[in-house]
Amino acid sequence: MSDTVDIVRTKADLRGRVQYWRDQGLSVAFVPTMGALHDGHLTLVRTGLELADRVVVSVFVNPTQFGPNEDFSRYPRQEAQDAALLTEAGCHLLYAPTVAEMYPDGFATTIHVSGVSDGLCGDVRPGHFDGVATVVAKLLLQVAPHMALFGEKDWQQLAVIRRLVRDLDIPVEVVGVPTVREFDGLARSSRNAYLSMEERKIAPVLYQVLADMAEGLRQGRTSADLCAEGVTRILQAGFLSVDYLEVRAADGLQPLDRLDRAARILVAARLSGARLIDNLGVEPPHA
Ligand code: PAF
Repeated sequence: MSDTVDIVRTKADLRGRVQYWRDQGLSVAFVPTMGALHDGHLTLVRTGLELADRVVVSVFVNPTQFGPNEDFSRYPRQEAQDAALLTEAGCHLLYAPTVAEMYPDGFATTIHVSGVSDGLCGDVRPGHFDGVATVVAKLLLQVAPHMALFGEKDWQQLAVIRRLVRDLDIPVEVVGVPTVREFDGLARSSRNAYLSMEERKIAPVLYQVLADMAEGLRQGRTSADLCAEGVTRILQAGFLSVDYLEVRAADGLQPLDRLDRAARILVAARLSGARLIDNLGVEPPHA
């Protein structure tokens, strides 16, 4: 085994490596990322290693999923550090394509997944899920893994990808992996790196609100009441604004007023340094 994880930058090299494994009867798991890897990503890699013989990770900061006023140019890029973490985790191959490799001149296709892309982050970040769906479809076709792992922290993204894979008959199993949290409940995210020390102390209120809302729903309270209370609490804690705080059906993401089926409470809110998202599942008491 080499000292550091092998890196390929072209789809031709990538396909050669994965085909070689497939020809040997080995199973392949794929973890797509935008880099700036943290323990949440490494949990995906570790889960991939448990489920498959080989794990491929991609690092690609995808320009098409960032809006014009978003953080594409300042999004953290640290390939050497990412490669070291992946080596330590036991990842077998790092795919780090250039923008030109992913979007060559004349690229003209966009995938739009309707329904689950609407509302929540889909409203606040117009075009975001089209960029995600397009790049994920490309990556899945390029890597051709047996399974692909995604964090549940991006619950709406996971729903979009599940729909995309079903609708386009992409032969891959989509595996959702539970969110990794800090000691105080804050969900791990590459964007936590933007938080000042003061903001870092405020940020865990998001998780506390989600946990209390889950309890309220289980006690029979309505989501309208709980959301209104939750927004007030988040703003009082020091967040600048709340993009959304909603209770949705866990699968199809339809709005829910009461806990009459498996639900997901989803939030996005802004501190001056970063926009944070999180979500929590809640089951009806009798389930
Ligand atoms: O979740 C992410 O990091 C990105 O949206 C993904 C899935 C790698 C697509 O660029």
